[in-house]
Amino acid sequence: MKVDVLLGLQWGDEGKGKIVDVFTPKYNIIGRFQGGPNAGHTLEFNGIKHVLHTIPSGIFHANSINIVGNGVVIDPVIFKKEIDALKKYNVDVQSRLLLSKKAHLILPTHRLIDAASEAAKGNAKIGSTLKGIGPTYMDKTGRNGLRVGDINDPNFKEKYNFLILKHAQILEFLHYEYNLEALEPDWFEGIELLKKLKHIDSEQYLNDALLQDKSVLAEGAQGSLLDIDFGSYPFVTSSNTICAGACTGLGIAPNRIGKVFGIFKAYCTRVGSGPFPTELLEETGEQLRKTGKEFGSTTGRPRRCGWLDLPALKYAIMINGVTELIMMKADVLSGFEKIKICTQYEVKGQAVDNFPFDISPEYVKPIYKEFKGWGQDLTSVTSASDMPTELVDYILFLEKQLQIPITIVSVGPDRTQTLFR
Ligand code: GDP
Ligand code: IMO
Ligand code: MG
Repeated sequence: MKVDVLLGLQWGDEGKGKIVDVFTPKYNIIGRFQGGPNAGHTLEFNGIKHVLHTIPSGIFHANSINIVGNGVVIDPVIFKKEIDALKKYNVDVQSRLLLSKKAHLILPTHRLIDAASEAAKGNAKIGSTLKGIGPTYMDKTGRNGLRVGDINDPNFKEKYNFLILKHAQILEFLHYEYNLEALEPDWFEGIELLKKLKHIDSEQYLNDALLQDKSVLAEGAQGSLLDIDFGSYPFVTSSNTICAGACTGLGIAPNRIGKVFGIFKAYCTRVGSGPFPTELLEETGEQLRKTGKEFGSTTGRPRRCGWLDLPALKYAIMINGVTELIMMKADVLSGFEKIKICTQYEVKGQAVDNFPFDISPEYVKPIYKEFKGWGQDLTSVTSASDMPTELVDYILFLEKQLQIPITIVSVGPDRTQTLFR
């Protein structure tokens, strides 16, 4: 069997958690391949909303295994909170959740360095989630990090102290005051919990499973425009969020990749700093934020909102090799008299289709095509054949432009509010 990949094509929060949950009954294994608790993946069913940060979004299904892959970074404190939150729903985490021994650990000082470097940047800050993501990946590539497989090492505390010492020098350089002693008890409590879970060589486990014809879905975090290489650098996250990240973050060879599900909102959002060509800074943006409840699942920050951006979407589709598209939050556009799509950018007086190196407002201006809106509320529509004609026109236009079928249209946060085309 092959590994299917589901990933975000925009700046994150496209609705990955919801769709992974919807797809899980079709897969034996769900694997997260990058990112960490900067992610907030929301699932809704039976009137209850769950937000997952590190645990894969297949966890609520009894028949699937969930793997936290080697590419993920784990904060033991947040991880413990997530597991505790699952207890009241009787989720059998012990048998359903496996951790890669090679996944890196977020230390309390990684979080402090994240905060200190954001503070030092002032107005130029990334707007990070302050979860310690950047510093942890820096230690990974700098070959200093601690991994899940290290926690049973008798010298673990020594290794921890050694790294903490290095971090103390960085924090001193950044003139950042902190109280590490107050943070350590929770962290080590989290480590004790991690010890109780199953640690595996996930690359071996997954490749063995594929040979046994097991089906695997790789769950992305963040979105393609936050990718460390291809996103709007430096306003990006610190991992490869694109399809190739599933290979390195799970130990899957490129020829093992099957379908690539690219997920996007019917409009655009972004949280944190950085350029956003189609951002709406007036009333329409406010309306999108209000109707779409666009507030961060991890930080609660208001998300910046704007119209759909085709040059960016085409770029993300190209980089990822998307084979199927999933359009989320179509219901949020109900009631807009006019809906716009950015079809090209104007760069130095020329209309361009490609995604340029610099997408800052001084350099690119969006060129829009206007569509007629629809009044109908979509949240109770149960069949794609009952979609209003204006929405069908919107979808057909996108399929023609993007040359990839839109196989799912989501019309509400609940599992059931999912239309298959
Ligand atoms: P993720 O990070 O990609 O998993 O997405 P988030 O969970 O951060 O953000 C998506 C938000 O939109 C969550 O609050 C979801 O419950 C919600 N959501 C998902 N799909 C839909 C939809 O089709 N319509 C509406 N109105 N909300 C949705
Ligand atoms: P999910 O998986 C939206 C953004 C942050 C910031 C930048 C860098 O829920 O889609 P970081 O903490 O990673 O160093 O922050 O990336 N960001 C996200 N935005 N959804 C996410 O995850 C995000 N994870 C990080 O807001 O701009
Ligand atoms: Mg999210």
